[in-house]
Amino acid sequence: MKDGARARDLDALRAEVRRGRIPAHVAIVMDGNGRWAEARGLPRVAGHREGSESVRAVTREARKLGLSALTLYAFSAQNWLRPRDEVGALMDLLREYLLSERAELCDNQIRLEAAGDLARLPSRVREPLAELRGVTAGRPARMVLTLALSYGSREEIVHAARSLASDVAAGRLAAEAIDEEELGRRLWTAGLPDPDLVIRTGGERRLSNYLLWQAAYAELLFVDTPWPEFREIGLLSALRDFQRRERRFGKTSAQVAAEHG
Ligand code: IPE
Ligand code: IPE
Ligand code: MG
Repeated sequence: MKDGARARDLDALRAEVRRGRIPAHVAIVMDGNGRWAEARGLPRVAGHREGSESVRAVTREARKLGLSALTLYAFSAQNWLRPRDEVGALMDLLREYLLSERAELCDNQIRLEAAGDLARLPSRVREPLAELRGVTAGRPARMVLTLALSYGSREEIVHAARSLASDVAAGRLAAEAIDEEELGRRLWTAGLPDPDLVIRTGGERRLSNYLLWQAAYAELLFVDTPWPEFREIGLLSALRDFQRRERRFGKTSAQVAAEHG
């Protein structure tokens, strides 16, 4: 397809999406980088590098559409088990991303956040991450971009349970005061609304320890497109799919229709 035709298709799809309901929070499992590269005879890291172009494109598109939160699974607690070289290359790419995106995030009023066991990250990632979080936190923001880094949902729930238990043991919290909100405040995603839509690219149909608590009522979408090819068109198509669904939250279709008048 010619570039002009592709741009027109994208504009038409964008206009269609804008006419529908825009979710507040989209969370993505950015999978398929390694296989994308291997299929081209390239080293896996080339897939991760190309994947960071999708991060830029999707972030920009999400912001333009008016999402209030975008959460990207960038590195899982289990990914620490990958070969040392791949972990090192991923950390280098993260550092590069954090150093290069400052102007883009600030100019577009995007606040950067991170969720995960951040203490495990090497200082070459932790430092620019803390710096960028600090800079963007001090400015007005129209969207929060959260990187799930060294993130595992079970690890997160264990962490929250420990925090609740120690407050109860110390007499700072009554056991009866523990409810969904109180637990939610101790998750690494505290402050974020629950995701409305969770997308996984790359063809696998699993959550891989991502947002297990938070996604209790999220719409799930699994697409075969590998993350490096997802880009704006991938996000827009996913939102069209989301807009065709009916979210019932346990109620009947008739009740939902009546509520939306
Ligand atoms: C996702 O791509 C990125 C990370 C997990 C860091 P993968 O590296 O898992 O790519 P595949 O699944 O092997 O293709
Ligand atoms: C999930 O992808 C984690 C990220 C995308 C960061 P994985 O590739 O690590 O998941 P599994 O191993 O296929 O479940
Ligand atoms: Mg994978």
